[in-house]
Amino acid sequence: MSAKLYHGAAFYPELWSEETLEQDILLMAVTGINVVRIGEFAWSFIEPREGEIDVSFFVHIIEKLYRNGIDVIMCTPTPTPPIWMSHGYPERMYVNEHGMTMSHGSRQHMCTNNEYFRRKSAVITEQIAKAVGALPGLIGWQLDNEFKAHVSECMCGSCLLLWHSWLERRYGTIETLNQAWGTDIWSERYNAFEQIPQPAATPFLHNSSLRTMYQLFSMEMIAEFAEEQAALIRKYSSAPITHNSSIAFHVDNERLFKELDFASYDTYASQANYAAYLINCDLWRTVKPGKPFWLMETSPSFSGSLESYSVPHPEGYLQAEAVAAYALGAEAFCYWLWRQQRSGSEQPHGAVISAWGKPGVGYSEVLAVEKARKQLQPFLLATKPMQAEAAVTYSDRAKAFLRTEPHRKLNYRGLVTGMYERLLEQGIHRDMIMEGASLDGYKLLITPFLHYISDEYRERAERFVRGGGIWIVGPLSGGRTEEHTIHTDAALGKLETLAGIETVFTYPMDGTGSIGEAFSYTAPLSLWSSVFNPKDAVSIGVIQGGLTPGLSFLTERSIDKGKLVMLGSMPADASGSKLLSAIMHHYAVEAGVTLRAEVTTGTIVAPRIGADGVIIWIVVNMDGNGGTVKLPQHAKDLLSGEQLPPGPLTIESCGWRIISPFGSAQ
Ligand code: GAL
Repeated sequence: MSAKLYHGAAFYPELWSEETLEQDILLMAVTGINVVRIGEFAWSFIEPREGEIDVSFFVHIIEKLYRNGIDVIMCTPTPTPPIWMSHGYPERMYVNEHGMTMSHGSRQHMCTNNEYFRRKSAVITEQIAKAVGALPGLIGWQLDNEFKAHVSECMCGSCLLLWHSWLERRYGTIETLNQAWGTDIWSERYNAFEQIPQPAATPFLHNSSLRTMYQLFSMEMIAEFAEEQAALIRKYSSAPITHNSSIAFHVDNERLFKELDFASYDTYASQANYAAYLINCDLWRTVKPGKPFWLMETSPSFSGSLESYSVPHPEGYLQAEAVAAYALGAEAFCYWLWRQQRSGSEQPHGAVISAWGKPGVGYSEVLAVEKARKQLQPFLLATKPMQAEAAVTYSDRAKAFLRTEPHRKLNYRGLVTGMYERLLEQGIHRDMIMEGASLDGYKLLITPFLHYISDEYRERAERFVRGGGIWIVGPLSGGRTEEHTIHTDAALGKLETLAGIETVFTYPMDGTGSIGEAFSYTAPLSLWSSVFNPKDAVSIGVIQGGLTPGLSFLTERSIDKGKLVMLGSMPADASGSKLLSAIMHHYAVEAGVTLRAEVTTGTIVAPRIGADGVIIWIVVNMDGNGGTVKLPQHAKDLLSGEQLPPGPLTIESCGWRIISPFGSAQ
């Protein structure tokens, strides 16, 4: 990849004539599309009959695009196995938790653990890599597409066998497993690994350990599939490899991206849900530290399929999305899709160009993105996103625990986004970080909804605290063991000793009339809660009313130079958001978090730093209501050259500016 910002689209040349291709290339030049992603659904085009593999069309396409200044991300076509693989072979297909076997004609219909599928996908991957891997226009690879987006854990016979060996590797003996899962419950005890079922249809609930472990097993298997493809590609190509992922899918992104070269994802959030858009930028930036991420797909205007469609983006929003992504660390901002599908299932999806070759409804917005990209490029290439001082832990494994035990249909992503929003609205620059990420450089760490906190994580966070950091743990964190069982030494296990508290009760707080008070704010408390006796800690938030009045839901304990804060319950409703914001604000100030800006809700600042230490701010209004950012001192608008006085600077609806916030001298 070269030093530029990419503006791209998903492109399916195999579906169109050569004449249309010529037209597309001309239109891409006008639009400013400088990269396309191709091939992810083209398996039957490349291999129409078993063994008849011909990649020459894609060689031709990549060469032609390159001659026209358009780079390519090549995909492996494995999300859509062809009919010759599936017809007559039900045992190769994906089986869902209700025991339903998928049929051909959609995507992800085959089991990715099926041995035959794996063999064939290795062959096609290698053939594609051999044919296009060294072409100059090929700047990157995408493995498959959206692993486990439409499906979750497969229940087929191949998976059953792999599950048994996975369990045997994990537990060694069946007795260890029986102990770990507590299988004397409901006569679940197993005599051999081969007897252990998959969490498929049962009259009533399955064992929680079994359900969580099956998810972890499935996540590991799909990561291994990715690694298998990546290794084959690397034999022929030095171009970096990614996967188009998401936090909505049934994958462990931390594990999945371990062996990949850069992070990429897709998102289709609406403007009303702009926090869901931004959380992605703040997460994917940290997945491969120091490497820019790609927003591989987003709609130029609206998404849609045979079943429904969304509201088109209002004027200006696409540009706000693109500027925010680039400013927060994206190297590429790409659409799904370039030319509207003529056939299939997604004809009602917004596209840059219509099926008849004319601008789509979002086209003028795409042009605005291109203009912004050109304006931003010199500033962004000269700077890097600043590491935040405040971090929120993100874990797909925690998502798996919550899926096993969803309480009242809790959604991990929604819960985490809610916490994230509290930082966002206060203008605190933030990183979402995976469990294994380094804690160096952070001052405030927030770890919510992490049912299972490993010893390793707790010890690392303890070192962070001892070094001066503030660690806020909760709500819903620490109450389960690695095996998805309950601690028996203390409700939150070893965390309690460190936090200097005793958890007196754990129980669902919703509807009990419990009110939490802290920092002069009060709010009803909710969710499954841990209520504390602050033994060696200080009670900061006391519960009023309900079943446990006088006990604490918020405590803090100084440990060496830092502090461990336990948040045992979730403040609910609008007043709860205010209380949570007050908690975050208080500890951000105490932790010495200064990387923040005074912005009105809906407007963000992306701080960036150059090699010379000069800081710039990209300020963007996301919510369409316009807003202000308070300039700390005399500043300069780097695009217009305008000198700006200290104090509030108005940002118009979906507007953005590049500012040197500390004056032109900086
Ligand atoms: C993505 C997928 C694309 C397309 C798009 C429509 O999730 O990767 O192939 O289906 O959604 O919004």
